[in-house]
Amino acid sequence: MERTCFNTELSEKNVGQEVCLVGWVSKKRNLGSIVFIDLRDRSGIIQITVNEGVTIPDVRNEYVIQVKGKVSLKEKANPNLKTGMIEIIASEVNVINTAKTTPLIIADETDALEDTRLKYRYLDLRRPIMQKYMDVRHTIKMAVHEYLSKEHFIEVETPILTLSTPEGARDYLVPSRVHHGKFYALPQSPQIFKQLLMIGGFERYYQIARCFRDEDLRADRQPDFTQIDIETSFLDQNQFLTMMEGLIKEIFARTINYEVKLPLRRLTYKEAMDNYGSDKPDTRFDIKLHDVKAIFAKSEFGGFKDVETIKAIVVPGVSASTSRKVIDELTLEAKKFGLGGLSVIKVENNEFSGSFVKFLSEDEKAALRSDLAIKDNDLLIIAAGKYNRVCPLLGALRLRYGRELGLIKPGTFDLLWVVDFPLFERDVENGQITSTHHPFTRPRDEDLKYLDSDPTKILSYAYDIVINGYEAGGGSLRIYNQDVQKKIFQVLGLSDEDIKRKFGFFVDAFQYGTPPHAGMAFGLDRLTMILGGTDNIRDVIAFPKNLNAVCPMSGAPNIVDQAQLDDLGIAVTDWEK
Ligand code: AMO
Repeated sequence: MERTCFNTELSEKNVGQEVCLVGWVSKKRNLGSIVFIDLRDRSGIIQITVNEGVTIPDVRNEYVIQVKGKVSLKEKANPNLKTGMIEIIASEVNVINTAKTTPLIIADETDALEDTRLKYRYLDLRRPIMQKYMDVRHTIKMAVHEYLSKEHFIEVETPILTLSTPEGARDYLVPSRVHHGKFYALPQSPQIFKQLLMIGGFERYYQIARCFRDEDLRADRQPDFTQIDIETSFLDQNQFLTMMEGLIKEIFARTINYEVKLPLRRLTYKEAMDNYGSDKPDTRFDIKLHDVKAIFAKSEFGGFKDVETIKAIVVPGVSASTSRKVIDELTLEAKKFGLGGLSVIKVENNEFSGSFVKFLSEDEKAALRSDLAIKDNDLLIIAAGKYNRVCPLLGALRLRYGRELGLIKPGTFDLLWVVDFPLFERDVENGQITSTHHPFTRPRDEDLKYLDSDPTKILSYAYDIVINGYEAGGGSLRIYNQDVQKKIFQVLGLSDEDIKRKFGFFVDAFQYGTPPHAGMAFGLDRLTMILGGTDNIRDVIAFPKNLNAVCPMSGAPNIVDQAQLDDLGIAVTDWEK
C-alpha cells in the first residue's frame, strides 16, 4: 500500500479507514504491552498506537518509518494536536531508514546553541516552528506572484554576476578567470537593471531577487538576503504607494488572516525623527520625544548652552526602580551616541529629585510639568547636543523602555510610511556626502535649486514602509533626466571618469526615451520575521550565515585549491589566522 495522505489530512471523518502513513518518529512511549509513537511528517503529528499482539521492529527517535493501520477515535482527545481526536491503530510498522541520536532535540522548544542549530540545519529545519516560518515565507511569495500578476507585472530575472550597484554596502566580488584582474560584483540589489527594464518598455516589473551585501550583520540583516523587488513606469507617488498598500494588505490577509486598514499612515522623515528619534519608528507605544529647548532658553546649566537641540522623554512609572547603576547605563548609552551624557530627573512624591535638579529653576520645573504632563514616579530623561545625535539616542531609549516595560501589546501590527527623506546625508565622522537611499532617487522639484548651494537641504521622493519598528521596505521615484542624474553623481564626488566607468551605460540609456518611473523593494526575510513572529532573521532563511558571515554547516567561506587561485591569477597575501 502506498502513502495515503499527509498526517493532518486525517480527522474524525476518516474513522474506520485503512491508511498508510510515512514520516519520522517524534516520540516513542513503550508501556510494555502497548506502544505509542508520535509520527511526524511535514503537516504535523499523529499518534500511532501499537496494541499487544502486533510485533514491530525496533524504532527510535527520528527513524523514518511506514505505518499501516486503521483510523480510530481516541478515548481521550489530545487538545495539543491538530489530529488529537484520532489515532492510528497500527497493523504493521516498517523501518524505512534508521537515524543516529540527533545532536539537538527536534521540537519547537530547543536549548541548542545557535551554531549547533546552524551546523545541523537539516535537523533544525525538521522542527515544526521552522517549517512554519518557511511556510509563511512561501505564502508571502505566492501572494506577491498573484497580486502583482493581476496588476500586470511580470517577473524578470536580472544577473547575479554583474557590476557594483550602489546601495551603500561593500560588494561581494567574484574574480574573472577569463579576464585576470577583473571582477564581477554580486548585486546589492537589482536597482540598475530594473530601471533599465523600464527604459526597455516593461512598465511593470517584479522579481523575488537575491541580493548580497558585505556589511556588519545584525538580528535583521544577512549578507545574502531576498527582496521583493518592484519597478513601475508612469505612476505618481500616490498611485504607486496605493498599489503597494494593496500588496501588503493581501500579504497580511493570506499569511496570518489579519486585516490591514488602508490607507496607511504617512509620517514625514522629520516628523518621525522629531517625535520618535528614528526613521523606522515603532509607534505601538506612546513614549514620544519632546522638544524642550524653549524651556531651557535661560538655563544656567553649561551643557544646555548654545546647543542645537534639547529633547526629553518621559518614561512612565520607573523613578522608584531607577538605581544609580541604571543611570550609569543610560549615560554610557549617551556616550555611544556621541554625546557627553544626559540629564535624568526622578519624580518622587511629586517632587523632582536627582543630581540634576539643582540646575532647574522653578519656572523650568513648572514648564516641564505642564508641557510634558508629568506624573508621580515618571522618569524624565533629557539630552542636549546635535539633532542627529540627540534624536537617535532618545529614540533608542524609548524603544528600550517600551520593550522593558511591556508597553507593546503582542500580536499587534503597526504599519506606516515614512516619506520625504533627505536626498543626501553627511557622514558625522568624515563630513562626506552620501545618498540617503541611492543615487537614482529623485530630488523634490522644488528643492532642485539647492543642488549647488546646499545639497543636504534637498528632500527626495523616497519612502520606506515601516512595520513594528522594522524597515520592511523602501524605494523612491527615480531621476529620469540624464542631466540631473549626472549632477547627482557629481555632488556625490564622482569624477566624469568615474561616472563613465561605473555608470556610463546607465546614463547613456537615459537618452533613449526614459519613462518617469518609481519602485521599491520589500525585504522578504524581514516580512517573514514580522509575520512569522520571530525577531531573528536567521530563523526565516533555510540556510543562513551566522553573525560572523559563516555557514557553520558547510564551512563557507573556505580556502580553495591553489590551482583554482592560479587559474584566476590570484595570490593571497594575507591569510586569516
Ligand atoms: P534598500 O537598500 O532599502 O533598497 O533595501 C530594501 C529592503 O531590503 C531589506 N534589506 C535587508 N534585509 C536583510 N538583510 C540585509 N542585509 C538587508 N538590506 C536591506 C530591508 C530594506 O527595506 N534598490 C533599493 C530599493 C528601491 O529603491 O527600489 C534597495 O535595495 O527590508
